[in-house]
Amino acid sequence: GVRVGVLTSGGDAQGMNAAVRAVVRTALVMGATPLSILEGWQGAVDNSIHEMGWSDVSSILNQGGTVIGTARSADFREYEGRLVAAENLIRHGIDKLVVIGGDGSLTGTNQFRNEWSQLLTDLVEAGRISHEEAAAHPYLAVVGLVGSIDNDLVGSDMTIGADSALHRIVEAIDALTSTAASHQRTFVVEVMGRHCGYLALMSAVAGGCDYVLIPERPPGEGWEEEMCNVLTQGREAGRRESIVLVAEGAQTRSGDRITAADVAGILKDRMDVDARVTILGHVQRGGTPSAYDRWMPTLLGYAAVQTVLEQGSDDGAVILGVRHNRIARLDLVTAVSDTRNVATLIEQGSYDEAVAARGRSFTE
Ligand code: F6P
Repeated sequence: GVRVGVLTSGGDAQGMNAAVRAVVRTALVMGATPLSILEGWQGAVDNSIHEMGWSDVSSILNQGGTVIGTARSADFREYEGRLVAAENLIRHGIDKLVVIGGDGSLTGTNQFRNEWSQLLTDLVEAGRISHEEAAAHPYLAVVGLVGSIDNDLVGSDMTIGADSALHRIVEAIDALTSTAASHQRTFVVEVMGRHCGYLALMSAVAGGCDYVLIPERPPGEGWEEEMCNVLTQGREAGRRESIVLVAEGAQTRSGDRITAADVAGILKDRMDVDARVTILGHVQRGGTPSAYDRWMPTLLGYAAVQTVLEQGSDDGAVILGVRHNRIARLDLVTAVSDTRNVATLIEQGSYDEAVAARGRSFTE
């Protein structure tokens, strides 16, 4: 029968478990055998590959992280590591994969897929697999799902985990708001997201923050004064608390990082305000997935199995993302390279181009 492997790779994200569960159960319903590859690509290298039954994914829908483990595998970056991975997949009869990870993991996966026939040729020549085994698995079918709290994938409105991280941040802002208001204090809060300001911007809007710094829109000349004026005006209007949100990738127009500590320093120097700094860190990536991060990854996992079972040798690898609240099929190579391109444009200081290239819009 058909055997479908599933793995999670790169940084974990809430909702990965919902996707894994849907992949396993959809495969079973469709008469295929699901196998989990533990600890990301490292499990393929180490032969940590296990058949999954219906109840192996019970009670994981509401858990954060990924129960099948994840890693950023160094072995898999080397050809020799990928050779061992291919050998192990063949041993388990797997030539269809659903990979849930960030753009880095999906890029590595695609490279592996492109190398598949070369890897098998080398394995046959080395006597590690037979001709018959190689011939039985002429190509590797791959479907990617994007698990990342950063919401940085070009072509998808949402990535798995972003909504839960946003909820976590907004809860933290609400908590800080009450203590800040009690003392009439100012807080500077740093959130994750790498090159992407999505989490910072959306939580600033949802949390009613005073000022936000994101990588895609570095503040112009004189921003320090502007920020202080905004905070002063807020206080004059009766606000008892001030919150400045800083994306971890925030920077000046010339590309110098702006940290939460920098912002606190500016507030001290210019306003003599003793701001408190809170760096949320990995709490954003853990804990209970939101409802959205349960139902959407469930649909995505279901669609991923259908898609991977249909994939022919001439079809390109795909990513399933979300567009206008619908599941969208994206070309993996294009989506990943477009995502890299946005990061590069930001690094080069081409901010308008970066925003345009991300291609997200809130109006039709
Ligand atoms: O990509 C997800 C993310 O949480 C980023 O927001 C952050 O920059 C990075 O991973 C942190 O990586 P690590 O978990 O390796 O510290």
